[in-house]
Amino acid sequence: MCGIIGITGHAAAVDGVVAGLRRLEYRGYDSAGVVTTDPEGLRVVKRAGKLDNLAGALDGQPLSASTALGHTRWATHGEPSDRNAHPHLDPSGRVAIVHNGIIENYQTLKAELGDVRFASDTDSEVVAHLIAEQLTASSTAATAADGTPDLLAAVRAVVARLEGAYALCVVAADDPETLVVAKHEAPLIVAQAEGVGYCASDVAALIEHTNEVAALLDGQFARITPQGIEVVDVDGVPATPHAYTVDWDLAAAEKQGYDHFMLKEIHEQPQAVADTLLDRLNAPAPGLPPRLQLDELRIDEGEFSRIDKVFILACGTSLHAGMVGKLAIEHWAGIPVDVEVASEFRYRDPIVDPHTLVIAISQSGETIDTIAGAAHARNQRAPVIALTNVVGSTLAREADGGLYTHAGPEVAVASTKAFTTQIVGCLLLGLYFGQARGRVYSSEVADILERFDRVPDALREVLELDGQLRELAQRYHDVDYTMFIGRHAGLPIAMEGALKLKEISYLHAEAFPAGEMKHGPIALIEPGSLVVALAPAGHVFGKMVSNIQEVRARGASVLAIGTAGSTAALTEHADDVLTLPEPPHELAGPILSVVPLQLFSYHVATLRGEDVDQPRNLAKTVTVE
Ligand code: M6R
Repeated sequence: MCGIIGITGHAAAVDGVVAGLRRLEYRGYDSAGVVTTDPEGLRVVKRAGKLDNLAGALDGQPLSASTALGHTRWATHGEPSDRNAHPHLDPSGRVAIVHNGIIENYQTLKAELGDVRFASDTDSEVVAHLIAEQLTASSTAATAADGTPDLLAAVRAVVARLEGAYALCVVAADDPETLVVAKHEAPLIVAQAEGVGYCASDVAALIEHTNEVAALLDGQFARITPQGIEVVDVDGVPATPHAYTVDWDLAAAEKQGYDHFMLKEIHEQPQAVADTLLDRLNAPAPGLPPRLQLDELRIDEGEFSRIDKVFILACGTSLHAGMVGKLAIEHWAGIPVDVEVASEFRYRDPIVDPHTLVIAISQSGETIDTIAGAAHARNQRAPVIALTNVVGSTLAREADGGLYTHAGPEVAVASTKAFTTQIVGCLLLGLYFGQARGRVYSSEVADILERFDRVPDALREVLELDGQLRELAQRYHDVDYTMFIGRHAGLPIAMEGALKLKEISYLHAEAFPAGEMKHGPIALIEPGSLVVALAPAGHVFGKMVSNIQEVRARGASVLAIGTAGSTAALTEHADDVLTLPEPPHELAGPILSVVPLQLFSYHVATLRGEDVDQPRNLAKTVTVE
């Protein structure tokens, strides 16, 4: 939540910052602001609302400087307004800060400052005051060897007093070419290219300048100047951040002719799934049968024989992918799996030990709830595997092993291609555990993978249903209530369908296991309700038909999502039936059946005139608890 970008040493630093903020806007869009430094002082322009408001203000009040710092906000403390927008200054205007995270002890710190007036209601502003105080106090550690104020030392001294999570970037009027950054439990990357220094919340903001970046680790600080980057730890001792090369380019982070990122990302799914499946089957040695290999996993195959329980931790859409993961692991590996809302995990007493495997799923790899849950498990010596889409992300770095999805950058707040590739990741993990535990023979593994390879083409077929889905959205975009129902692999998709619809169209939508409806939720059904039923051919199809009849009898309209083998039987029970190709494997079915629900939500939201890519109250990466 919140996006930060800083640039120093570039003639058009403000333009660069605004362009970077555009790519970070999905992290929060309640307000945006920029500060420039020059020897005459700091100049700030900030506006409530979307970045366009800031861009408009800058048109009327151009700023020019070679050092600039920008922020796009997802509000935590203080309403979205001009005064609460970042950057924040100290009262003398000497120091400016931008912050992503929450300073939990800000009230104590404010009280310690005494009778000082604050210009905002945020938790962040106090940090600017404290740093300015450090710089002013001549006898503090915030002094360089030559006696001049040392911004990095001042920031280190202040950060030692902070509780909470923060990615901070600081500039000071008396050191105009320097950016100082600090990181604790919120992402921050730094980079240097052609005499320009950069920092940002994620690579999307920097990809047009460089693909060589370094992620700061918790407790690290950096001084960024046009001449170079100095990274130190909390004691000021030189430290090494996590350097890596980004394997996608600017084009991948742009809309490329689509009206919205969400639509583009829906259409990228065949390729993203193919990329995630690529090159997984290899012979371990010449003459040996090919085996599924997950090289990034970094956990020895033998270790899986010692695992007697799996926890999958995730939030939101990633949690729904984890629900498919449970089916896959239990089916192929025969290990019991619990899927847990990550934000709940560490606040109860989960039974976790070294024989428990934890799989943490997160597109961004920066979701604080998931990171904290995984850390809790590691403290109890459970091995943790991170299933993420972002190389170098915090979760990927902190886990014992990992598996990357290869979805490329996902910009829309509503997750689509990340979800389908996470399901692929879960299927691969389930199959791999089954292979490692000797429950699935090599020939079966090869056969199943060969079937998975047919999924991208099947996805292309599903995408051709777009016209039909637009018509269905026309018909249903004003319904009062939508219930999604499914069983087995259809249940996670029902849940994901409901999440997609509510998050971008703001329609009331819920999901239930189809068999659970009669235990309460069916009371909600009345004429005018819409029920979306996941009803592919398979072992639960007959039961789904009964449940469809139950809601139809109570006046609901039914939109059934069937497959080639089930739709003939569905037509007499549903108002509308959509026919998907038969999936090449039952557990790959969710990868196909979620796509019509993504498109349906997309069309409903656009018909209702909502902001598809930036839905209200949300942010793409949730770095606060
Ligand atoms: O980056 P993560 O996968 O950890 O994000 C978890 C959720 O915040 C995310 O999946 C959210 O539910 C989606 N944006 C919904 O479309």
